[in-house]
Amino acid sequence: MKKRINPFEYAGQIIDKMMHGGILVTTKNGEKVNPMTIGWGTIGVDWSKPVFQVYVRECRHTKPMLDQAMEFTINVPLERNDKVKEILAFCGTKSGRDLDKVQELGLTLVDSEKIGVPAIKELPLTLECKVIYTVRQEGKQIPQDVMDRFYPQWAENPEDLHSVYYGEILDAYIIEE
Ligand SMILES: Cc1cc2nc3c(=O)[nH]c(=O)nc-3n(C[C@H](O)[C@H](O)[C@H](O)COP(=O)(O)O)c2cc1C
Repeated sequence: MKKRINPFEYAGQIIDKMMHGGILVTTKNGEKVNPMTIGWGTIGVDWSKPVFQVYVRECRHTKPMLDQAMEFTINVPLERNDKVKEILAFCGTKSGRDLDKVQELGLTLVDSEKIGVPAIKELPLTLECKVIYTVRQEGKQIPQDVMDRFYPQWAENPEDLHSVYYGEILDAYIIEE
């Protein structure tokens, strides 16, 4: 069962979880579903649409998957129990390039309502998002202290930056038992 929510009423909770351990962005290509832990994200309004923006670095397996799928779910835990900690640590250190995170963790996938990418029952607060705009952040416009901290190799690898995916929030709910 899914309890519909207004995502903006949960914005504080989503940001708090993102800043303390992370949340997931999940994509799907063919039969492969790949969740990735994120600590950066923005919820708000753009072009009069409710939007969740994710920031995905060039080297992530999630990046080409998102470019193809142009859809994602955001999966937010309601509590931080041991299983949730394990999921976030695993999905934030292992790449879908090398293994199947869903299978390894035994995650319970739940069909979405409006998009082809599933939700994840273990992280039940779900935003279904359709990508409406993408842009790679421009190194020359990023403050120097940020470049030094996050992109020290940038001069040798100028594409090694984060791209922003603006996901229009098409549905929002909490998966209940
Ligand atoms: C707490 C935490 C937050 C993270 N936040 C982000 C993020 O916002 N954007 C990003 O590109 N990678 C982020 N990462 C790194 C990815 O989750 C990690 O590189 C992951 O293994 C990539 O998976 P993939 O190759 O299957 O896409 C974060 C990792 C952790 C542990």
